[in-house]
Amino acid sequence: MGRGSPSSPTYGASSSPPTARAGIAGSFSAMMAAQQSSPSANAFAMQNASTSPRSHGSGQANGIPIPSGGRRPSVSHNMPKVLTPFNTSSIKILLLEAVSLGAVDMLRKQGYQVDYEKDAMSEDQLIEKIKDYHVIGIRSKTKLTEKVFRAADKLLVVGCFCIGTNQVDLLAAARRGVCVFNSPFANSRSVAELVIGETIALSRQLVDRASELRRGDWQKVSKGCYEIRGKTLGIVGYGHIGSQLSVLAESMGMTVVYYDVFPLMPLGTARQTETLEELLSVSDFVTLHVPEIEDTKNMISTAQLACMKKGSYLLNNARGTVVDLPALCEALESGHLAGAAVDVYPREPKGNGKGNFDNDLNPWATRLRACPNIILTPHIGGSTEEAQRMIGQEVATALIRYINFGGSVGAVNFPEVDLRAITEADRSVIRICHVHQNQPGALRSINSLLGNYNVDKQHTDSKTDVAYLMVDISGVSEEETSRIYESVSGLPTNILTRLLT
Ligand SMILES: NC(=O)c1ccc[n+]([C@@H]2O[C@H](COP(=O)([O-])OP(=O)(O)OC[C@H]3O[C@@H](n4cnc5c(N)ncnc54)[C@H](O)[C@@H]3O)[C@@H](O)[C@H]2O)c1
Repeated sequence: MGRGSPSSPTYGASSSPPTARAGIAGSFSAMMAAQQSSPSANAFAMQNASTSPRSHGSGQANGIPIPSGGRRPSVSHNMPKVLTPFNTSSIKILLLEAVSLGAVDMLRKQGYQVDYEKDAMSEDQLIEKIKDYHVIGIRSKTKLTEKVFRAADKLLVVGCFCIGTNQVDLLAAARRGVCVFNSPFANSRSVAELVIGETIALSRQLVDRASELRRGDWQKVSKGCYEIRGKTLGIVGYGHIGSQLSVLAESMGMTVVYYDVFPLMPLGTARQTETLEELLSVSDFVTLHVPEIEDTKNMISTAQLACMKKGSYLLNNARGTVVDLPALCEALESGHLAGAAVDVYPREPKGNGKGNFDNDLNPWATRLRACPNIILTPHIGGSTEEAQRMIGQEVATALIRYINFGGSVGAVNFPEVDLRAITEADRSVIRICHVHQNQPGALRSINSLLGNYNVDKQHTDSKTDVAYLMVDISGVSEEETSRIYESVSGLPTNILTRLLT
């Protein structure tokens, strides 16, 4: 790997040809399975740039451990070739904040050296520690600041084992050539199930009855309590969560309408409405599943609440800024709405604690807490054991794909680039993964270096001031490989160059 920043170390080139490879046809997961079961899948990494050499196994060919019971697939020439950029046993990964053990297992099976910590680290601890690692995995408590990235000489990639990425200075990471992945959709099912639960709880006034009895008050009522069967659910935002919810709601006997900014194919017998107002006026329950963007800020306020049917319910498990909460209080207090469920707030406490959801945090907190038939939850829509497991798998998969194959699809701070697999039949093919400054003429300089070789395929994209190019070149000797590597990583616009074979 060559990182081009003047303050960062750069590395000497060496190479060692692959000796044996195994693969099974198809997807990335098939490639990974093949890699895990290959006794002697060897590869080398050219880790190089212009000034000082570094040691971490650069260019050594190394076998990858076989997990016990791993089945060795048969090798075909059309099968994707397993690429490993480094001596895989030398890839060092630091996992903090007790990320899922499934992820740890997946990463160890790749032969990476994984250090696992239960707690987050402070900036000073990170600055001390991170210089040894190629990968760091965090959840929401670890802050990765620009200072931390400046100390992270070997870092290639960050895995956020969570939804949000506010804790990471994404631009600083990209400028150091560090790709950041997260897992935005692994908890969709958990949110959809919670909405079904809340829909029933609201229409039966479950939370009010339960809290009365916990105080010792027996209040048996049926007035104003309903089944959800036959009622209409209006879903605003028909994405990962909204569409999954649509299927669950229909199976409960509900009629589903949805509104989205895009025309989207309905699932089951759901129907898309032309306007938000139409959805609001026909729904017994309105549930919000839109992203937090300028267009969705206060998208449900006084005027929209007035469009909702009298005696209907509002559920917000999306983001806190989407609903004007004082306006919701008004609609509940006046009896226009029969109830509401709120999981997300414009400002949320930094951590768990007694009494910290108060008027200092949000001036209307006491008023909201006193509303009739309201379910208030502390942003737990996606918080389940299953979601944590899925997040672990998804982020570990993204890390392995980036480390071993260079693909950055799904990255949050980085151009999303990928190339179809190099197959077993592709002899002497090398893959260059080149992160560079997005400047006029940068691509021309790279292509003029590669112009005399047989470029099989290439893909490039840019995001703000960082660009990422993947190129596969065939028919290259070892000597030429070193030359190509040195010249590409020596370009003035180079940020980070890796070579896979
Ligand atoms: N409560 C929780 O714990 C929790 C957990 C996961 C996700 N979320 C939130 O849920 C929301 C939805 O998540 P998702 O994974 O389904 O997102 P998604 O990106 O898959 O879907 C969002 C949908 O909203 C649509 N949309 C965008 N702007 C719109 C607008 N102005 N009007 C109508 N539709 C609009 C998009 O076209 C898209 O179809 C996000 O805000 C996410 O942050 C909350």
